[in-house]
Order: sequence, then structure tokens, then C-alpha cells
Amino acid sequence: MPAVVVVGTQWGDEGKGKVVDYLARNADVVVRYQGGNNAGHTVVVDDKEFKLHLIPSGILYPGKLCVIGNGVVVNPAVLVREMAYLEEQGINTSALRISDAAHVILPYHLEQDKLEEEKKGAQRIGTTRAGVGPAYADKSARFGLRMHEFVEPDVFKEKLYANVASKNRLFTQVYGAGEFDAKAMYDEYSAYARQLRPYLTDTSLTINEAIDAGKNVLFEGAQGTLLDIDHGTYPFVTSSHPIAGGACIGAGVGPTRIDKVIGVVKAYTSRVGDGPFPTELEDEVAAGIRERGHEYGTTTGRPRRVGWLDAVIVRYAARVSGLTGMAVTRLDILGGMDRVKMCVSYKWRGQTLSEFPRDIRVLGECTPVYEEFEGWPADVLDRCRREEDLPAAVRKYLRRLEEVARTKVVLLGLGRERTATVRLEPIF
Ligand code: GDP
Ligand code: IMO
Ligand code: MG
Repeated sequence: MPAVVVVGTQWGDEGKGKVVDYLARNADVVVRYQGGNNAGHTVVVDDKEFKLHLIPSGILYPGKLCVIGNGVVVNPAVLVREMAYLEEQGINTSALRISDAAHVILPYHLEQDKLEEEKKGAQRIGTTRAGVGPAYADKSARFGLRMHEFVEPDVFKEKLYANVASKNRLFTQVYGAGEFDAKAMYDEYSAYARQLRPYLTDTSLTINEAIDAGKNVLFEGAQGTLLDIDHGTYPFVTSSHPIAGGACIGAGVGPTRIDKVIGVVKAYTSRVGDGPFPTELEDEVAAGIRERGHEYGTTTGRPRRVGWLDAVIVRYAARVSGLTGMAVTRLDILGGMDRVKMCVSYKWRGQTLSEFPRDIRVLGECTPVYEEFEGWPADVLDRCRREEDLPAAVRKYLRRLEEVARTKVVLLGLGRERTATVRLEPIF
């Protein structure tokens, strides 16, 4: 009857959606606790691909309560669209619950995200332009709009008109851009508010009651450790807390209620935005991984930057989230290579660093210290469904990762399908 948090250990897109979908079979409640529709979680069931941005991946099983927690920033237009998309696919969304304290993303946040990125030019973060950063900035500045205010027409109107007036001053006077029409925005978004109102509740209470009742609760992280606003490669980060501690704040549960934390590790590394990336490859190895792995963003379609597995990063993720286990995904994509490499420490100005440096200027100067491993054939993993079937070369690679990260591997992803998963240890 545990509460389990699933977090990304790298720069996002590790395969959290697939891992959550796999674990959700035995869960009663699945909770998103941070981020917004900057996330893109892909789940493949019976050859059918589902792309989820805001709704927890547990929605694909009937009868699981799916919660959008208070730490999430919700774009109502996107949420309504995602619900309609799922309904069209025959997925019932009535088990969705939205925190009344979650903040709302409005069109001016998207505009601000875009204008900020354009202003930064070469220094841009490479955001998904989903308005996530500006919405969290407004939340911290204490003039954001919460869901419970959004669904009260009078409160929504008053706050919206005030916020649009102030954003319009910013857009015209600072950025030289155009203005928003508060009335048009109010009319469009009021319709979403009416649609979403029945799903609102105090989800902290819902989740805590589920834990009290001995139910299995799964927390679905979005983004990844190195995109965490405090623990990531600042400023090339997102504006929330993807790490496990974020689940407590973003769902309203105490740390004493969390039993396990599973870190999702892609068997190599990818990054979709800008910022330093020590093991990045730009050669034919990268091209091969990108093509075999279809490494293009789920949300933006951008080609993802790729490189060898950086175990220094995973060790760091294990520390800041207190990982109890790792789910290693996409081992199949590395299949067919003669040799594979893993970074086990960095060299920086003559020193060996075994711990991840906080300062991105240091990180930018680090060169990876690699260990080489024998590769494994591409097709054997297709047939592997049990630990015993794993090639010796794969086991060796995983053992070394466990040593550096000081965490055991509990789950393996060997393909996109729900069934292409090997469980080494029970999680629920
Ligand atoms: P997320 O953001 O962490 O949920 O990851 P994304 O969905 O953005 O990207 C991961 C991609 O890898 C998706 O297309 C998944 O379907 C796919 N995937 C997940 N696990 C595996 C795996 O073990 N093998 C392969 N080949 N694909 C996987
Ligand atoms: P999932 O949940 C990968 C990256 C963006 C950019 C930075 C800030 O699918 O793993 P933002 O729009 O959040 O202000 O962008 O964070 N980013 C992600 N990269 N996967 C994600 O989510 C991401 N969400 C944000 O590319 O570098
Ligand atoms: Mg993704």
C-alpha cells in the first residue's frame, strides 16, 4: 500500500509516461504534482500511441483516480482539448480531479514566454513556450490566478481584467508588442471554466484520504532533475520542482507518507533545450541514436540533443530525490552497437569530479571520463521479458550504473510497448 514517486533523473523525456503507465496497473490514484503542458508523456498500448501533456498517464486504465495537483500550472484550453482527445479515443475522463489551488496559464503567459525568449536571443533557455515559466513567476509574485478563482465568474473577471491591464503595459511599454483584449479572453475562458468546474476539489485531502485507506498512490513527475529550478542546470531549467520533494509540495502530502522514489533513467542522455551537456555527441553515433530512438520532442517536435549515459548525473539525481530504485528505459535503442560508453566522473581543470557540479560554468568546462562496455545485439531485447533473458553485456552495463548511482535497478524498458518491460523487483 505504498505511495511511490516517479521522477526523471536527467533532462526530461526519460520515459516517465511509460513507466507510470506500467506501474499504474496496480495503482488506485495517479497524481501529477508539477509542471504544465510543457510535459509530453507518450504511452503506447497495443500499438496505439497516446500523448499526454497535463492529464496523468493513469487515465488509460479505467477506474483510476487521476489528479492534477496544486503544484501544476493548468492551461484550461489545453486541458479541455486533452480531455476531448482522450474521449475521442474511447478513454473515459470522469475520474479526473483538479486541485482548486492549481494556478492557471492564460494567453498572456504564452506571449510573455515567447517575448522573453526572443529578447534573450542566443542566451535563450529554449523553453517549450507553453507559458509555464511566466505562470509560475506570477504565482510567486502573488498575482497568479488559482483554479478556485477561475471558476467563480465574478472573481475571474475582476482578476483577469486587472492582470490583462498590467500585462498590456508590460507588452507595449517594455517589449513594443501588441495588447490583449480582456473581454475576448474572458468570454473564451469562461466557457472552459464552466467545463472544468465539476472536476475541482481539494486534492490534497483526496490523496491523503487514499493513503489513509491503504490505497496505492503513484506520483508522476514531469521534466527531470536537471530541469529543477533549484537543483538543475540553472538558468537552463523549468520553473518548478520535478524532484521527489516537489511531490510533497505539489500534491499536499507530507514526506513521511512517501514510501518509494523511482528514478527513470534513459539508457543514454538527451536534452531538448539549450544549456551545457557534457556527454553530448554530434557525430554519426548521435545521428544513429536520434534516428533509431526517434529523438524529437513530443511537445515541440524539436530534434533532441543526444549523448552517452552520464552516470554522474544519475548519482546526483539519486541524492537529491533519495531514489530507492531506478527504472532504466530504452536499452533497446542502444542495441546493435559494438561498444557503448558510460560517463562515470568528470575531469575539470586537472581534477576528477565524482559529484555533479552546481555551477553551469564548471559543468560547461567538464570533460567526461568514459568507461567502455561491450554492446548487445539489437533484436535480443525484443524477446526479453524476464531478468534471466538479459544478455550478459546489458547486465554488466547496469551493474556499473548501480555502482556509480548507488541505487539498484528495479525496472527495465526494452521497447515502447507497455509489455516491453521487465520488472526486477515489485514496486507496488
Ligand atoms: P517522458 O516525457 O519521460 O514521459 O518521455 P517521452 O514520452 O517524452 O519520451 C520517451 C519516448 O520513449 C516515448 O516515445 C516512449 O514511448 C518511448 N519509450 C519509453 N520507454 C521506452 C523503451 O524502453 N524503449 C523504447 N524504444 N522506447 C521507449
Ligand atoms: P517531460 O515531462 C524535456 C525543457 C525545455 C527547456 C526548459 C524550460 O516530457 O519530460 P519550459 O517550457 O519548461 O519553461 O522550458 O525545460 N523542458 C523539457 N524538456 N522534457 C520535458 O518534459 C520538458 N519540459 C520542459 O526544453 O529547456
Ligand atoms: Mg516528454
